[in-house]
Amino acid sequence: MTTPQHQYTHPALAAADPELAALVGAEERLQAETLRLIPSENYVSAAVLEASGTVLQNKYSEGYPGRRYYEGQQNIDQVETLAVERAKAVFGVDHANVQPYSGSPANLAVYLAFAEPGDTVMGMALPMGGHLTHGWGVSATGKWFRGVQYGVRQDTGLIDFDEVRELALKERPKVIFCGGTALPRTIDFAAFGEIAREAGAVLVADVAHIAGLIAGGAHPSPVPHVDVISTTTHKTLRGPRGAMLMSREEHAKALDKAVFPGLQGGPHNQTTAAIAVALREASLPSFRDYAHAVVANAKALAEALLARGFDLVSGGTDNHLILMDLTPKQVPGKIAAKALDRAGIVVNYNTVPYDPRKPFDPSGVRIGTPSLTSRGLTTEHMDQVAEWIDRGVAAAGAGDEQALAAVRAEVADLLTAFPAPGLPV
Ligand SMILES: Cc1ncc(COP(=O)(O)O)c(C=O)c1O
Repeated sequence: MTTPQHQYTHPALAAADPELAALVGAEERLQAETLRLIPSENYVSAAVLEASGTVLQNKYSEGYPGRRYYEGQQNIDQVETLAVERAKAVFGVDHANVQPYSGSPANLAVYLAFAEPGDTVMGMALPMGGHLTHGWGVSATGKWFRGVQYGVRQDTGLIDFDEVRELALKERPKVIFCGGTALPRTIDFAAFGEIAREAGAVLVADVAHIAGLIAGGAHPSPVPHVDVISTTTHKTLRGPRGAMLMSREEHAKALDKAVFPGLQGGPHNQTTAAIAVALREASLPSFRDYAHAVVANAKALAEALLARGFDLVSGGTDNHLILMDLTPKQVPGKIAAKALDRAGIVVNYNTVPYDPRKPFDPSGVRIGTPSLTSRGLTTEHMDQVAEWIDRGVAAAGAGDEQALAAVRAEVADLLTAFPAPGLPV
């Protein structure tokens, strides 16, 4: 909870609901004092935060700019149009829909646009690095469609395109998803494009994780190889929690109809505004520097971990993300993740490809550099970060709480020199 010195930064909230305000204050301190390595998280700018807390919240606007089912859209139409135009410019696409509430509903809208219940769809298996919504069995996308799944090779940790092609030609899916949630390597959109064309499938690039890298030129763009681009806006793109669907003009109508009225009601206009702000930030030269710095930091961190005997899936990284298999360290992923959390290093435990352990108690830990790069840490700091992770994992194995507390103090000490965007100093 808050300490006596803690300054409330939300005076109206503190007056109306001190209990909730205290929790927000505690979260601000936690995000300030810890090294946040979850690769799908970031720090949004103060401008994005402000936009997402505006009176745009108060407005209903079912429909699209110029075609709404509610009046009073003089400003909202312009907000949404700004977001759409900026998305089109940043990603070089004909069409953008900025209304999906988040990544999972965005992907569901894609299925609604291009498949019927019971149709075959194809994506990467969740334990191999894919996302639940790519046809995995426990997800609606695996229950309502027949999900066939590809993976990575056990020896290389890389996608085997011969296997993907063979599966696609045998199963003839309506929709193929590429991209994922634990993929440390560059996605070969051209190779997927060839396979999808041969199989007659709609190809969707789910770039949720790497959208910011694409916007900043630090990962190849899926344009022109794919039919649809689906992305969240809150990961490397550094926007609010939301999502976008993008495509060539030919798919614009189908996608728009699927989002509204197919799946959703009124768009969250405060989020649309914050997406517009984030996209403006992503169009600036400084964002290119950011995207390249994220990758440089991840590569430096991977090298420093390899030097300390860590086993990295696929042997390293091309992007913002590193997947560590802790089997050689003889510490299960969950125990390591929880110990690192006590050491002020926030990660998530994760399955690794061909994991012999259960998803709720897997062998791996997934880390990434978007957040620490947003704070201004550079490649010079990555050896120190690896050393902390190494000490944390060793302390997890030994049950050494003192060692974890020592790392936590060192982490907090370094981070005082790197204030996080959007947080009160
Ligand atoms: C590749 C990918 N797609 C979709 C999603 C779903 O996004 P959300 O959590 O916003 O529903 C995620 C989230 O982790 C993701 O990594």
